[in-house]
Amino acid sequence: EIENGSYEERLLQDATRYATEAGERILSVMKKPLHIQEKKNASDLVTEVDLLSERIVRERIAGDYPEHWIMSEETDGGLGNAYDAFLQPNEGYGWIIDPIDGTTNFIHGLSHFAISIGIMRDDVLVCGVVYNPITRELYSAQRGHGAFLNGQPIHASTEARLENALLATGFQADDWKPDSPVVEQIGNLTGKSRNVRILGSASLDLCFVASGKLTGFWHDGLYPWDVAAGALIIQEAGGSVTNKSGEPFRLSDNTLVASNGGVHRAFLSLL
Ligand code: IPD
Ligand code: CA
Ligand code: CA
Ligand code: CA
Repeated sequence: EIENGSYEERLLQDATRYATEAGERILSVMKKPLHIQEKKNASDLVTEVDLLSERIVRERIAGDYPEHWIMSEETDGGLGNAYDAFLQPNEGYGWIIDPIDGTTNFIHGLSHFAISIGIMRDDVLVCGVVYNPITRELYSAQRGHGAFLNGQPIHASTEARLENALLATGFQADDWKPDSPVVEQIGNLTGKSRNVRILGSASLDLCFVASGKLTGFWHDGLYPWDVAAGALIIQEAGGSVTNKSGEPFRLSDNTLVASNGGVHRAFLSLL
């Protein structure tokens, strides 16, 4: 474990370096007009900046760690169900990347988006980095070593009452139907919490729970690249991440409920 620990400390430093480099490149090309492409439909978008960010991170990993596996949204997202990869045991070290989490915000000039990099050893998340290049906020965690924002320790909030909780959620616009569960869930939680937000970058939303800005976050249908880094960062900040049944969250799960821990039971009971 100690051997793994110092190796993983190096992985975290490298992940931080790759995310910052990709972030600087995003900033440097942001002023140019964007080429926006539709993927499945008009609300599922990708730009050449997503592809650039992804290429930078993948190339760095392949250069420094050729023996590690890599999964990233714009390369692997079209291959069918990315959850399946986590139904069987994984072996060795692997990297799970979202090159821009919050592409719609990015396209519209909203500052809430990030590069998200999670690292696994076999089936265990061991490192996570989420970097917002606009605000230069870098959230990070290594398993067993706590969670940090720009090097300073962060902790989930100590709130115990759901009525004082600020919650967030999100949904894929193309998954939405009038009877989508999220509509009823927002209705259930709006009177019972301080309020509900939809901010548009799952990885950063999770980091907001880890740093006590939000009390809780829930979302159905997220992919491993949306959550790998943020889930570890919340756990290391003392929060809870489960599926809707309250079981410890796994990357093969389709539902995610994250909180500071203190409001978790009350939160789950209204979902
Ligand atoms: C999206 C964001 C958003 C969430 C969507 C994701 P993308 O990721 O995380 O907050 O609601 O489900 O697909 O496509 O911007 O990387
Ligand atoms: Ca996307
Ligand atoms: Ca994403
Ligand atoms: Ca993305």
